[in-house]
Amino acid sequence: MISIVGSGRVGTAIAFLCVSNGLDNVLLVNRNEKKAIGESLDVANAIPKKSNFSIHGTSDYSKIAGSDIVVITASMGVYLKDRTENMLPQITMIKEIAQKINQYCPSAIVLIVSNPLDILTYFFQKEIGFSRFKVFGIASSLDSSRFRYLISEKFSVPQSLVDDALVLGEHGDSMVPIFSRVKVDGKPLLSLIDDEEQSSIVFGVRNYWKDLRRYKSRSQFGIAKNVFDVIDSIVNNHQLSIPVSVVLNGEYGENDVAMGVPVLIDQSGISKIIDVDLSDSETALLKKSSRKIHDLINSI
Ligand SMILES: NC(=O)c1ccc[n+]([C@@H]2O[C@H](COP(=O)([O-])OP(=O)(O)OC[C@H]3O[C@@H](n4cnc5c(N)ncnc54)[C@H](OP(=O)(O)O)[C@@H]3O)[C@@H](O)[C@H]2O)c1
Repeated sequence: MISIVGSGRVGTAIAFLCVSNGLDNVLLVNRNEKKAIGESLDVANAIPKKSNFSIHGTSDYSKIAGSDIVVITASMGVYLKDRTENMLPQITMIKEIAQKINQYCPSAIVLIVSNPLDILTYFFQKEIGFSRFKVFGIASSLDSSRFRYLISEKFSVPQSLVDDALVLGEHGDSMVPIFSRVKVDGKPLLSLIDDEEQSSIVFGVRNYWKDLRRYKSRSQFGIAKNVFDVIDSIVNNHQLSIPVSVVLNGEYGENDVAMGVPVLIDQSGISKIIDVDLSDSETALLKKSSRKIHDLINSI
């Protein structure tokens, strides 16, 4: 069973993908039960006839018992200028959710989606004490999707011709788009753009969410598909290579911080953290990003 905590825009979009693809039973958990039940009644009509699975809504955490995967999309409020705006109430909330998961489904793999992503991944993993390979945050893959999209738009090519567009580090203003590895139609991206164009893409990736909010209240589908791909990889044991936020223990020269790094996912959760070659300037930017997350953690 897949339990999704938080039945807002993002949680419901993830539920829709899981249910319509017949992945597993889904439970929507929301503090306002009416919302969870209402969304589950709507999403239930997307269950294919051949599916063996269903969806239900509740505010009762005891019903998550037996979950194989728990996805946390709960949020206490909307941030306006920076993902860290509601950091303290979000940390309190995620620690409470950690205690429920520990109580009812201590073997689950837990995917964090709520913001501030890296901070919540860090405090959740410390609170619950599960292996860091079974508790990770999904966001850098969304940032990578945005990076790939902006490159494809710039060159007017389909995204299938953009390879290795990777974003690492914080899911925030210090995130690091990795230009040195990207190829567009087989050619190194850095041979096709100048410094000013590079800065403009970095600005576009970091501020994609603000740009989107000029037209729509909040994003939901991009993150939902990225989370669905991770759930699919775990449920069906398809190996998936993506960046996720995980507590680091020496990898990339970092300790005691969670941030986006490339990993392999399979039915066990994270099976491996991948060490990719970065340029000196990218390494320095990643260090700066981890310092920012460290500082936020130490401010608590
Ligand atoms: N990782 C990423 O790349 C990414 C991308 C997009 C969004 N996000 C984050 O994902 C989170 C959800 O976004 P959203 O747009 O779906 O927000 P939303 O529409 O406001 O939904 C949040 C839901 O969480 C529920 N909730 C709050 N506290 C809860 C608790 N303790 N237990 C259970 N449910 C609880 C709320 O319930 P009520 O009905 O009672 O209010 C609400 O239904 C946010 O933190 C957002 O910043 C992350």
